[in-house]
Amino acid sequence: MLGPSRVRILFDESAIAQRNEEMAREIAAAGPKDLLVVAVLKGSFMFAADLIRALHRAGLAPQVEFLHLSSYRAGTVSSGQVAILRDVESEVRGRDLLLVDDILESGRTLAFAKDLLAARGARQVLAAVLLEKRVPRQVEVRADFVGFACPDVFVVGYGMDVGHSYRQLPFVGVVAHDDPEPDLFGGT
Ligand code: IMP
Ligand code: MG
Repeated sequence: MLGPSRVRILFDESAIAQRNEEMAREIAAAGPKDLLVVAVLKGSFMFAADLIRALHRAGLAPQVEFLHLSSYRAGTVSSGQVAILRDVESEVRGRDLLLVDDILESGRTLAFAKDLLAARGARQVLAAVLLEKRVPRQVEVRADFVGFACPDVFVVGYGMDVGHSYRQLPFVGVVAHDDPEPDLFGGT
């Protein structure tokens, strides 16, 4: 099915909403103490906003922080390096943290964020990702909570972008190529 902007839908709004509620209950069942959610910007902003409200419904009262990291510059190819564009402000020592990111692909972003916060003395650094790509990790790291397994395609929507476009879509999809219908009648 094609949504607006010729984006082929992979995970629709209701599937995402349902999975967010399930994940929130899984996270609550892990019994985190003094929980600080750290949303990894920018791609996770929509997922984090929904997951955090689902965490509230699941009975948790997390504090919320933001960590802006950059691994993809322009386009769709990873630079292989992770840079901190904006750091968390809160003290993380001794606390249970939940990193929230959009996609686990090579693993570099999540490994970097986990190592950074663990080195600052967090008691435990859990990670929730909306999508886990079915590709080999370049860095050994795992997410504790995964929304969906994702095929090895470049996805957009629900916060994720290509060149800052498509973040507003309420679903996750793949940009459809403009394949014109073949001209069966050989018209001029
Ligand atoms: P990793 O460091 O290779 O695991 O990549 C993780 C980050 O790359 C994610 O947090 C996304 O921001 C970005 N990313 C990876 N794949 C995609 C994609 O298909 N669409 C949009 N962003 C992506
Ligand atoms: Mg990201």
